[in-house]
Amino acid sequence: QHTDLAAIVESGTVDVPDFPKPGVVFKDLMPLFADGPAFRQVIDGIIAHHGEGSFDVVAGVEARGFVVAAAIAYATGTGVVPVRKAGKLPRKALSASYELEYGEAALEVHEDAFIAGQRVLVVDDVLATGGTAAAALELVERAGGTVAGFTVLMELAFLKGRERLSPRTVHALLTV
Ligand code: PRP
Repeated sequence: QHTDLAAIVESGTVDVPDFPKPGVVFKDLMPLFADGPAFRQVIDGIIAHHGEGSFDVVAGVEARGFVVAAAIAYATGTGVVPVRKAGKLPRKALSASYELEYGEAALEVHEDAFIAGQRVLVVDDVLATGGTAAAALELVERAGGTVAGFTVLMELAFLKGRERLSPRTVHALLTV
């Protein structure tokens, strides 16, 4: 089944050369999101991997992580907490800066986003350098949540995000 999911993610991805900067190959997973049966299998696969009942809320990283988080939350009757780019949240927020493959940015989460000890499944579409994920996972814990798992649809192994996040566990449906 894991192999099936990897194949589904691979066939739903389009490589976009030189986006958003020259030399970067952008992994566009929007065709996967747009394919109903494929999207459902991917979401169900993530839930099966972690186990329904192993998390209380799903944190999605802006922007494509929101799509994945909302679907998992709906399917499991949990909720969604958006981890947003700096300056987007309306109330008092915690902030963590990070470096991207192509720039610098900061992520934020509302300081009251989690109930203390709440088990949080953190999701995003792609793990590249791991900077985004490191910031998101740090924010979840600073806001009082407990990281129950971290899943991405695609991991770019050559950028060593998994090593950067060690000893945390990364679950990737497809590693390229
Ligand atoms: C992409 C991707 C991850 C991040 C991974 O987001 O969706 O969030 O980069 O890169 P990293 O592991 O090197 O940190 P992007 O910054 O393109 O944001 P967007 O989803 O809002 O377009």
